[in-house]
Amino acid sequence: MVSRRGLIILAVLLVSCAKVQGPAEPQIIPQPGFLQMGEGSFRIDKGTTLFVEAGDSAVLRTVGFFNDRLKEAAGFTLKVVSDDPLRHRGEKGIFWLDAGLKEEAYSLIVRPDMVRVEYGSGAGAFYALQTILQLLPDAVFASAPQRGVEWALPCCDIEDEPRFPYRGMHLDCCLHFFDIPFLKRYIDLMALHKVNRFHWHLTEDQGWRLEIKKYPLLTEKGQWRKETVVGSLSSGIYDGKPYGGFYSQEEVRDLVQYAAERYVTIIPEIEIPGHSLAAISCYPELSCGLEDHYETATRWGIFRQVYCPKEETFKFLEDVFDEVIELFPSELIHIGGDECPKTSWKQCPHCQALIKREGLKDEFELQSWFIQRMERYINSKGRQIIGWDEILQGGLAPNAKVMSWLGEEGGIKAAQQHHEVVMSPYPKYYLDYWQGDPDSEPLAMGGPTLLRTMYDYEPVPAVLTEQERRYIIGVEGCVWTEYMPTPARVEYMAWPRMCAIAEAGWSRAGKDWDGFTRRLETHLGRLDRLGVQYCRNFWDPFIDFHKDTEYSKVVTMSVDAPGAEIRYTLDGSAPAASSTLYEGPFVINRQQRVTAAAYRDGKRIGNIKYKDFK
Ligand code: ACM
Ligand code: ZN
Repeated sequence: MVSRRGLIILAVLLVSCAKVQGPAEPQIIPQPGFLQMGEGSFRIDKGTTLFVEAGDSAVLRTVGFFNDRLKEAAGFTLKVVSDDPLRHRGEKGIFWLDAGLKEEAYSLIVRPDMVRVEYGSGAGAFYALQTILQLLPDAVFASAPQRGVEWALPCCDIEDEPRFPYRGMHLDCCLHFFDIPFLKRYIDLMALHKVNRFHWHLTEDQGWRLEIKKYPLLTEKGQWRKETVVGSLSSGIYDGKPYGGFYSQEEVRDLVQYAAERYVTIIPEIEIPGHSLAAISCYPELSCGLEDHYETATRWGIFRQVYCPKEETFKFLEDVFDEVIELFPSELIHIGGDECPKTSWKQCPHCQALIKREGLKDEFELQSWFIQRMERYINSKGRQIIGWDEILQGGLAPNAKVMSWLGEEGGIKAAQQHHEVVMSPYPKYYLDYWQGDPDSEPLAMGGPTLLRTMYDYEPVPAVLTEQERRYIIGVEGCVWTEYMPTPARVEYMAWPRMCAIAEAGWSRAGKDWDGFTRRLETHLGRLDRLGVQYCRNFWDPFIDFHKDTEYSKVVTMSVDAPGAEIRYTLDGSAPAASSTLYEGPFVINRQQRVTAAAYRDGKRIGNIKYKDFK
């Protein structure tokens, strides 16, 4: 029998349990720095007003984006009143207020009768909107009006600002070409994740993609390759189909504007001195002239045909960068700098004479001399250069920033030399690498870089001193498109792994894998609404074999979905909820096949995966 006192204790316990559980926490990616839930919610309906300060055109545009989304997903828009929001105190609405917060920072106070949004810049207001959208039911991302949805924001207090100023996503549009509507969608997705730099890879051995008025041949001819390798670069099999595509300057201007309205700066990349075969195929005089024939590359890789550091090359590059600078307001201009073989320079009489004349030690110093000369030019136009790690070879140009891709070492070295660094290490931040088991994934690069590997990466190397750490200005996810011929494949490779990079770039909340996967599962519902063709192996087991003896392998398995368990068989039969539960590493022999699936509450949540001994 329970005593009266016992009942009271039970009641207290029940109340405190409810309190501990609290209102459902919103699942936001990237995770805000500070988030506290309250009671109740703020309902958004046709009677809700958006109060914006008079003349704040940036915020008016942002609330316009809000109305666009509501119109599409809810079938109504909100009235916008643009004067002094404080005059409307007590009215039901969302109050947008410049409170002098730091650039990109925002705060949100959601109460049952009003929402107060504070910021210090248009960017902050825009990021507040991205969070508001994620506080709403995921139906807000639908492309047709949804019935029966209660459009409510849970009461909460949020204070948020980015960890890094540079939160980037790269797209290689040379190995494969992607049209402007897709790039707009790409930028929309970046913006949803508070990613603010689009690194646009525009020139390569396999194609030149940017219209340059002074050198029309670059796109008339240089956009084309006569065919493309099928499969991996070593297959030796080609498709026999000409492949091309380029962006007109008019399209570029439109995209730059589109991105700017979403607080995304486009950083163009024009590769020097290597990865320049498409340009050289149009203007062979820019090379060392050692070969009879220069032709746009038809497979991936590194090519010895690079720019020769002679006056006509510099004239050409200065002209090209003049137009690039005119098109792109970005303070940073990416000059590539990676993977430049020194073969041609070693054999070229001009290059060798130049090394002597300038008192350079070798071809690495010649590369540095080349880049420093271009840096002076670009600096003279009021812009800064950023380049891949290899620009450290032979000495870093005085004002250059480094994009560290060859692991972390280049980034560490550059930070120690007090140069700013963006961390985009391969393979951790390379979205062209396998994201699951190569046995069952579409063709990709390298070895698996799982979502978890990406999430766990800490972009500030521990070896740096407190002072050196300040030179790490951000992160970037790289999307090289060797094996991504279509937009669908790009989305498949980029998402959801890019969510992890976006969170590393923005969130000050610290790493919490379990929390991340819980939020991500909800977030994937948003990506579903948006029709993003992301990789769905979040719900599938990843079966990993580890070498043991000739006759045995050790098997480990993992699944990203939170609260899931893995059930498996070893005889080739399909697993069921009653199959063996995976509890830790085990051994298989040559005849056994691991067949596994993830389950939650006795229900399979993803695909069945199998792996043979091989
Ligand atoms: C690179 O991946 N070559 C920068
Ligand atoms: Zn040369």
